[in-house]
Amino acid sequence: MRIAVIGAGYVGAVTATCFAEFGNEVVCVDKMEEKVKAFSQGEPPFFEPGLKELLVSNLKQKRLFFTTDIDTAIRDALVVFLAVGTPPRGDGSTDISSIIEVAKIIARNLDGYKVIVTKSTVPVGTTYLIRDIIEENKKIGVSFDVASNPEFLREGSAIYDFMHPDRVVIGAESDSAIAILKDLYRPIYLRDTPFVFTDIKTAELIKYVCNSFLAMKISFINEVANICDIVGSDIHVVARAMGLDNRIGPKFLHPGPGFGGSCLPKDTLAMVKIAENIGYDFKLVKATIEVNNLQKERAVSKIVEVMEGDVRGKVIALWGLSFKPNTDDIRESPAVYIAKRLIELGAVVKAYDPAALENAVSEIDNPNFIPMEDMYDVLKGSDCLVIATEWSQFRNADIERIKGLLKKPIVVDLRNVYEPENMKKMGFIYRGMGRSLKE
Ligand SMILES: NC(=O)c1ccc[n+]([C@@H]2O[C@H](COP(=O)([O-])OP(=O)(O)OC[C@H]3O[C@@H](n4cnc5c(N)ncnc54)[C@H](O)[C@@H]3O)[C@@H](O)[C@H]2O)c1
Repeated sequence: MRIAVIGAGYVGAVTATCFAEFGNEVVCVDKMEEKVKAFSQGEPPFFEPGLKELLVSNLKQKRLFFTTDIDTAIRDALVVFLAVGTPPRGDGSTDISSIIEVAKIIARNLDGYKVIVTKSTVPVGTTYLIRDIIEENKKIGVSFDVASNPEFLREGSAIYDFMHPDRVVIGAESDSAIAILKDLYRPIYLRDTPFVFTDIKTAELIKYVCNSFLAMKISFINEVANICDIVGSDIHVVARAMGLDNRIGPKFLHPGPGFGGSCLPKDTLAMVKIAENIGYDFKLVKATIEVNNLQKERAVSKIVEVMEGDVRGKVIALWGLSFKPNTDDIRESPAVYIAKRLIELGAVVKAYDPAALENAVSEIDNPNFIPMEDMYDVLKGSDCLVIATEWSQFRNADIERIKGLLKKPIVVDLRNVYEPENMKKMGFIYRGMGRSLKE
């Protein structure tokens, strides 16, 4: 099948590469020439495990192409996926201007039947808006269908998630669109992956509801961790006991400095807006966002407290800048928030991240932010170590070496990668999240 994927970001590039891997002929379009050039040369412009290998293999087999020529890509395709960005506006609503722009381009290139599919996360009703724009602007007599196929992949394991999803949601209202999308997903369908076929609006809603629920679970466990800190309980024991209840489940019960990334913060804000627009006050999601903002600030306070109430003139070593491990994405990253706040409060931040250093440097343009290429170099002469992202190399770090390099053995472990008891035995002043047992 011939497919066009518009947008070569995390979602678009992975979707295009995986559909090519399934044996389809896929053209992925982006308006950024450098991105297209990098992908065409087999060099993904962002870090995503496994993407490069699959990309190179499909480029070689001439099933996958990258281009800026959106018109030809659309004309040649039976199915057009929209995977452009849908960032938040200042008021929390969703900026769908790229979606509208692409819908107009599709209309002028519609020369035969096509299925237009929104893979981007879009507010309820957007796919109908795309349909209306195409209907108004297309040549007379050409038919098409629209569908919603929200994406649930996670950065850092995007290829695996696309190939082995928990479920595929397809919102489509014509038999042809359903048949074509079923055919496209056949390799996954044959593996007994659950498929949810529904109407378009429901499919759009499902994506926001899932992300809002996940965000709520994180905010919940973060608040429980805060309580554990006060009463001296261990959040890991609490979370394990909670997770063993099948109705709750063990995932997303890890406390930290708040959720970040390109999806949960933006999608929770959008969920509140979507509800507001229909006159509904979605209180739980509002509280989830508020708790998350407080949690980031609480992480900063934890660092300030262990520095005896003042970080002015202090040098803080920071491990981790991406919003989670195995990605270079720093969008809404709590680690970046913490770095900025510490600098604001007068500290110097020496930072290391295995993948996100370059992105962080362009985001935190400050002489008191010192990026370094070696995780141990940032410790030399620093007043404390803060772990903000749980890359596995931090788990396996040489603890004695950490102690030897720091000015004072102080570790603020915002991701609970170490055992408090061990750290204390080794002579550290240690703060975790919800497991900083009393001195
Ligand atoms: N990143 C994730 O983990 C994830 C997961 C599920 C869903 N989503 C959703 O998928 C969508 C895309 O997210 P992303 O993280 O891949 O975004 P991204 O910002 O990484 O990529 C979007 C790409 O679209 C391109 N683009 C924008 N307008 C264009 C146009 N008119 N023509 C051609 N290209 C254009 C941009 O240049 C950019 O490369 C969003 O709606 C997001 O909410 C993201």
